Amino acid sequence: MSVTILVGAQWGDEGKGKVVHFLSRDADIVARYQGGANAGHTVVANGCTFVLHLLPVGALWPHVICVIGAGVVVDPSALIDEIEQLEKAGFDISGRLFISHQAHLIMPYHKLLDRMAEEKSPREKIGTTGRGIGPAYVDKVARTGIRIVDLLNHDILRAKLRRNIEEKNLVLSRIYETEQLDEDQIIQEYLEFDKRIDPYVKDVSVFLTDAIQEGKKILLEGAQGTLLDIDAGTYPFVTSSNPTAGGALTGLGIGPRCVEQVVGVLKAYTTRVGHGPFPTELPGELGVRLRETGTEYGATTGRPRRCGWFDAVVARYSARVNGVDTWAITKLDVLTGIDPLKVCVTYEDGRRTYRNFPAVPHILEGCRPVYEELPGWSENIQGARRWDALPLNAQNYLRFIEELSGVPVGIISIGPDHDMTIVRDWG
Ligand code: GDP
Ligand code: IMO
Ligand code: MG
Repeated sequence: MSVTILVGAQWGDEGKGKVVHFLSRDADIVARYQGGANAGHTVVANGCTFVLHLLPVGALWPHVICVIGAGVVVDPSALIDEIEQLEKAGFDISGRLFISHQAHLIMPYHKLLDRMAEEKSPREKIGTTGRGIGPAYVDKVARTGIRIVDLLNHDILRAKLRRNIEEKNLVLSRIYETEQLDEDQIIQEYLEFDKRIDPYVKDVSVFLTDAIQEGKKILLEGAQGTLLDIDAGTYPFVTSSNPTAGGALTGLGIGPRCVEQVVGVLKAYTTRVGHGPFPTELPGELGVRLRETGTEYGATTGRPRRCGWFDAVVARYSARVNGVDTWAITKLDVLTGIDPLKVCVTYEDGRRTYRNFPAVPHILEGCRPVYEELPGWSENIQGARRWDALPLNAQNYLRFIEELSGVPVGIISIGPDHDMTIVRDWG
């Protein structure tokens, strides 16, 4: 029972990178289970800032083994760039990175189709990261995807690529009236990638199951967030994978009995990047203040994040669909100086009150948040290292989140640095 699943409990960018880095100091293995290079997980360690997109954040601890599971869609060029960047910064990952042979590859046509769908399709825009995520998962589900294991057999790789490129070229020319893909160039490029990736390929399910039996401490690092989950999220304004706790098991090929706890990461307020409903959004001055104080700009695309009040309806929902045992609350310091603070406790649409999150955009669009006000605090809290060192009003804000969500707060992050973290002492 040595496995912890860590999930984002809002619309992504909750500060998962910071919390994973904090927790993985004591871990043996950190594994990513879904998503791809659409993630941007920021870690501030020893005065340096790292943004990881595909590699698990555990890569920043030399003792941690990193795993990329079958549920991840791997862009080999992004992966190789990231490995090289880390190596330049002094982190050697040879011998401690394993990638599932069953993981699907992101191909150049996935990135092109992602962009085309956003720019030229008449359907509603999602505001994707443009990393080819949706089209790669489409091919996976359509059973035409190319997997890491296909790199190992060049004849199979060539045949699959030919078929796919032929089909994608038809879509690109007939629907989007745009550039054609060069088959030979792509085949050459991916044969080169094979040479670089080959040493890392492993049967990850076997590796993790053995590690669980040996009692190793394993942290499963979710990307994105619950409200971006393809099933649980605000569909269609979601990503194309399952960031929720269930996705961790299918994405890594392990069974549920090994899971010891689920940690949900919640920002002390709410942000969202991309389109879609966001009931507690603050379009005015206060939203701008949160964005500037919290440096709320996308770690992958640099886009400004939409900001708003904390939403306990969302927290309650995430607690339920993930089975969250403990919250890690991040960015509490960003709320310093805002008085009063508002917390959304329910929604109402003029006809009824919603205590449970209605994960349906057209209902959400008509919902208004019902707020309760709490007094704020003005003290700088970044130096606090114990629960008691937090101002009483900050403690009460966290207690209110616990009360509304039914889940205790175990970790409080009060700044981006590794040590700006409080672990709740229940005594
Ligand atoms: P992730 O995708 O969930 O890992 O989150 P991001 O890295 O995209 O965004 C979180 C941002 O908040 C990063 O810039 C972090 O360095 C920063 N951050 C994390 N925790 C805290 C905190 O407690 N306080 C402050 N001020 N910044 C934080
Ligand atoms: P991390 O792991 C925040 C959003 C995009 C868009 C939608 C679909 O850093 O929390 P996609 O490119 O996945 O097809 O885009 O999902 N999105 C994220 N938002 N944080 C992320 O990752 C995200 N990854 C995708 O903005 O609305
Ligand atoms: Mg992020």
